[in-house]
Formats: sequence, structure tokens, C-alpha cells
Amino acid sequence: MVNHQNVIRRIGRVIRDGSIWAYVIGVLSVPISIVVILNSKTIHKAYKMTLFKKFKLGFKMFYNSLLISTGTSYKAHLAMALKILETPPEIKGDVIECGTWKGGSAANLSLACKIAGRKLKIYDSFEGLPAGKKGDREARHYKKGDYNGTLEEVERNIEKYGEIECCEFIKGWFKDTLPELKSPVLLAFLDVDLEASLDTCVKNIWSNLVDEGFIFSDECVGTDYIALFYSEKWWKLNFNRTPPGFIGAGTGIAFGNYYIGPWSEKSNHPLQRAGTGGYTIKSMSGYWSYYPDKIQQEKEE
Ligand SMILES: C[S@@+](CC[C@H](N)C(=O)[O-])C[C@H]1O[C@@H](n2cnc3c(N)ncnc32)[C@H](O)[C@@H]1O
Repeated sequence: MVNHQNVIRRIGRVIRDGSIWAYVIGVLSVPISIVVILNSKTIHKAYKMTLFKKFKLGFKMFYNSLLISTGTSYKAHLAMALKILETPPEIKGDVIECGTWKGGSAANLSLACKIAGRKLKIYDSFEGLPAGKKGDREARHYKKGDYNGTLEEVERNIEKYGEIECCEFIKGWFKDTLPELKSPVLLAFLDVDLEASLDTCVKNIWSNLVDEGFIFSDECVGTDYIALFYSEKWWKLNFNRTPPGFIGAGTGIAFGNYYIGPWSEKSNHPLQRAGTGGYTIKSMSGYWSYYPDKIQQEKEE
């Protein structure tokens, strides 16, 4: 539910798990994070982002992330806002979110969409995760129905804390809803937990992504999971191209946190935080091509 009990519950949790100082540092650094993340020479002037408007957006995103249960940081939301605001208005494309839970990240994305005059399409089952599929290594961490947020709950949260008039809600399993996606996409935020869901999302979104477009994913610390963006086999099979790579693979985007990793040892370092989220750009490359032995071999043949 959306109320101040969320804030109290969260404070209780950080005191219990020993990460209170990381939380204090996080709160104190909010203004610095806003200035640093939104400091950009390429935010398009059409969006009239004065310093005051940047602070207003950043603080609202931070506050929303306390009020609505969300699995992602306002800093990741700000990073996506930056990419949206740096894109000139004449470049077409909607913003889409796959995986919304209670609508925390969607509420914040809707704020950026409102400024940039873009539509936000929100895809979710609105009944939580599907049952895990055989061969999906992430499935063992979840059960069917985890992260359940109903459509009514999400609408209510965005109405209260975001900009609902920018939003369209597409209810259903990704395998049924995403093949219907035919409109250009500027930025897709995938926060879908399962490998099967990531596979479906990227397969269906990639060809709709504009050349300047971005795919963000929350799941960045799992090196097996994010390997999709480096898998030569996956990209050859699905799009007959080399992999695009991923900024933030293994650690998340560098948001000024301390994070040494690996994720399996996170409870040993309660003051450390991985960044939530990383991204790829359609035009990016993450492909190794230097094989000197092979070249030598080819010469000799
Ligand atoms: C971790 S939650 C999203 C959290 C949210 N982005 C946030 O920041 O608070 C994952 C969401 O993905 C949705 N989801 C995962 N796989 C799905 C699928 N195959 N079809 C539809 N929804 C799916 C779940 O319903 C859930 O709402």
C-alpha cells in the first residue's frame, strides 16, 4: 500500500540489516546525485530544464521511491530520465516499461515522459511473475505471483505520484502482449526478473527500438543474466548481428556507490551498494574480434 508506513518499514529494515550508514549516506547525497546525474550539456533545450526543474524532478523521484514500494533506485530512474531528456523531440519513440510491480518506477518515468511529451506504455501481468520455465536459472529464486501489483493499485499510485495522462497500461503475459507492439520505442525499461521474461522482452522490443534507442535493465549484477547482451549465439540466432554489450554489467551504472561484489557476498559488506540498473544502446557493440591464433592459422592454410 502507498503510505508513510513504507518509509518506517524501510528504516526498520536498514537498522536491522546493519546498512543504516549506507542509507544515511544515500539520503545525504540526494542533492549531489541529482546535480551529477542531470548535469548534461546535451539535455535538449526544448524541455527547458532549469536547475530548479532538475531539482524538482530529482527530489520528487526520490520521494516517490520512498512512498511507493519499488525494487529500483530513483538514481536509475534519473538515469533513464536523462537519456529521455537528451533525446531531441523530433526523434520518435515511446518509453515502455516491462515489469512495474506497484508502479514505483513507472510513476517516476511518467514524470520524465510528461516533460518530454512522450507516451509511457506499461506492460505487466498485473498478477505478478509467471511460473518459472525449465532451463530458466533465475526461476529458483521466485514463485508464481511474486511482485504482484494489481492494475488498480498501479493506476492509483501513478495518479497520485506521477503523470497518468502519459500512460497506457497493457495487461497480460509478455509473450501475448509484446508481439502486438508495432510502434517505435525510444527507451525500454525491463525489470522482469526471469530469464524467460528477458528473452521475450528483448526479442519483441529490439526491432521496434529506434536507432538512437536504449534498453535499460534492472538486473545488472547477475553476470549470467546480463550475459544475454554479450551472447554471440543469442544475437546471431535472433537478429543475425553481433551483441550490443551492456553498460553496468556486473555492478550497475556507476552512481557513486561503493561496490566490490560479487553479489553473492553482499551481506559481508553492508555499507556497499551495487547500482540498480544498466543499459545498452541499439548502436552499441559488445563483441570481441581479436583472435591472433586464428589469423595465424588462416595465413598458414
Ligand atoms: C521486480 S517487479 C518490477 C519492479 C518495478 N519495476 C519497480 O521498480 O518497482 C517484476 C514485474 O515483472 C512482471 N513480470 C515478469 N515477468 C512477466 C511476464 N512474463 N509477463 C508479464 N509480467 C511479468 C511481474 O508481474 C512484476 O510486476
